[in-house]
Amino acid sequence: TFPKRVKIVEVGPRDGLQNEKNIVPTPVKIKLIDMLSEAGLPVVEATSFVSPKWVPQMADHAEVLKGIQKFPGINYPVLTPNFKGFQAAVAAGAKEVAIFGAASELFTKKNINCSIDESLQRFDEILKAARAASISVRGYVSCVLGCPYEGKISPAKVAEVTKKLYSMGCYEISLGDTIGVGTPGAMKDMLSAVLHEVPVTALAVHCHDTYGQALANTLTALQMGVSVVDSSVAGLGGCPYAQGASGNLATEDLVYMLTGLGIQTGVNLQKLLEAGAFICQALNRRTNSKVAQATCKL
Ligand code: HMG
Ligand code: MG
Repeated sequence: TFPKRVKIVEVGPRDGLQNEKNIVPTPVKIKLIDMLSEAGLPVVEATSFVSPKWVPQMADHAEVLKGIQKFPGINYPVLTPNFKGFQAAVAAGAKEVAIFGAASELFTKKNINCSIDESLQRFDEILKAARAASISVRGYVSCVLGCPYEGKISPAKVAEVTKKLYSMGCYEISLGDTIGVGTPGAMKDMLSAVLHEVPVTALAVHCHDTYGQALANTLTALQMGVSVVDSSVAGLGGCPYAQGASGNLATEDLVYMLTGLGIQTGVNLQKLLEAGAFICQALNRRTNSKVAQATCKL
């Protein structure tokens, strides 16, 4: 049975833009986030407090976070890989941060330059400081259905890392199919293993659409009781440390499917389509959302 309501976590301004080669002007990022807030998304991941040497596109993180309108009731989490990023995020006004680990040693090394164990120590430091400052912490586990460097990843490894993030105090853990290689059967096996360790209410799925499986994989997770889904407006995105990874599930397509299933999201599809059209025009790019393509009058 499906959940009655699904919380959509819009990751376009972060996951969607981080991989863009040309630097997107800060006012464009701010306008995109404001339009997504207008569309009724309950969570809009705004930016990353990562090293500008690693991800130049996110170098304007403080300006973006300070410049956006903060709608009441909407959360604007930001990515923080280490304590330095956490402190900078808090100084810029972040009320929620996201730490990002992985179920793969090699991906962790390539993405945040440390081992899984070291990453958990860094996250623990952030979680302790966040608790003292009443800041919520979301967790990510990448490579849950496959890794660009290690290939197959066992569901047991995903369950182990997810459980650790949950025990350390993450209120929600997003399971990322970073390179979009998973299929519904693999999603079912992985989630079954994770559900032995962590309550379903604390889980989200984050599917990239590289192989066209994101909507099917997300539907599988919904059928298993997951009620938080990450997606990206216009299907923008990819990870700079996962070559060939394309964008996330398009938020427009997710909203269309959920509406058809009678599942509430609180999102206004028309306004969402306008946000998608705005960013595609700014990037001079065609949308990856099928719903946006189908409803485009041009
Ligand atoms: P490092 O080089 O090991 O860091 O990078 P370091 O501690 O040795 O410091 C090196 C330099 O970076 C120093 O500056 C630090 O001050 C600076 P220098 O003395 O050379 O001038 N530095 C920082 N600057 C700004 N903000 C910081 C910060 N930390 C250190 N927070 C580090 C380690 C984690 C910083 C680096 O690897 C990094 O920034 N990685 C981020 C990679 C990234 O953003 N990846 C994409 C997001 S993850 C993703 O997309 C997956 C997801 O969507 C889920 C899914 O799809 O699966 C979430
Ligand atoms: Mg991602």
